[in-house]
Amino acid sequence: MDLKKQIETLEKALKEELKSVKNQADLQNVKAKFIGKKAELSSFMKHMKDLPNDEKPLFGQSINKAKGRFNELIEARKEALRQEEINKKLAQETIDVTLDAPDFSVGTRHILNQIIEEIEDLFIGMGYQIKEGPEIESDEMNFEKLNLPKDHPARDMQDSLYISEDTLLRTHTSPVQVRTMLEYGGKRPVKIICPGKVYRRDDDDATHSHQFMQIEGLVVDNDTTMSDLKGTLLEVARKMFGPDREIRLRPSYFPFTEPSVEVDVTCANCDGAGCNICKQSGYIEILGAGMVNNKVLKDSGYDPEVYQGFAFGIGVERMAMLKYGIEDIRHFYTNDLRFNKQFNR
Ligand code: PHE
Repeated sequence: MDLKKQIETLEKALKEELKSVKNQADLQNVKAKFIGKKAELSSFMKHMKDLPNDEKPLFGQSINKAKGRFNELIEARKEALRQEEINKKLAQETIDVTLDAPDFSVGTRHILNQIIEEIEDLFIGMGYQIKEGPEIESDEMNFEKLNLPKDHPARDMQDSLYISEDTLLRTHTSPVQVRTMLEYGGKRPVKIICPGKVYRRDDDDATHSHQFMQIEGLVVDNDTTMSDLKGTLLEVARKMFGPDREIRLRPSYFPFTEPSVEVDVTCANCDGAGCNICKQSGYIEILGAGMVNNKVLKDSGYDPEVYQGFAFGIGVERMAMLKYGIEDIRHFYTNDLRFNKQFNR
């Protein structure tokens, strides 16, 4: 027999069959057919006995070599099959990241909260603590201890919503000053800001709201002066309205501060030259402040001979309205998403 030829024919047939193998089971069958015990190649061994002795080794070697080659071909196909299967699996599991995501709406932090946080950050940087107080307040904390006895005419400045004769919705955040001084028990220094909601008996319109937000500030120490107050408020004005702003203090009146001031900032629109926004004055009023009245210090446990303090009250809505040109305070509370989303900073 021509062994070489027969092996070549077998090898060709093997290559052909391997091409059409689709899975590992098919491959096992092919393997059995070509190099298994009952394979044609193995049957060639039977012819060995008919050969002269000196040809026997070569004959055997040829068959064994062919078996080795066949095995390599089968193993190579096995590996290729494995790769194909992995690739198929990967392709099936691919996520198409170019697919459009469904549109879902993401919330925005409310502009008033954003402003409160900005101011809190500024004051935390200057060593202040944040304090909160109750919105349902006693007449004593809201008025009496702030130098506003029952028949004081200045009570009319803040039309109040009473719950009972001596309980009301706080009209300002100033009672938190009193609460904090009492809590500190005469110890220095007091350096706090108190953000929160306040309530007034007002008819709602473009510039009035029965509920709005304030940030109170209070410092009590034994070296506190009006220039400390001015420097601090200049920081607030610049943080809110830009680094080039200047402020001016005008005399004013609050029962709990003496002297009291209204604070104006140079108009950011015209840089102080005068325009429609600042009504040609070059300035815009932003807050009220003053040196803590001696009586208020004394009533909350601080000796005015030793301690002085300054306080200020920021209207948060007013800040936002001035900063963003918002013309109606009601926008803050009506939750129109078109309004709220503008402040997604
Ligand atoms: N409490 C005052 C108001 O609501 C603002 C203010 C606070 C003024 C602190 C001076 C000092 O009108």
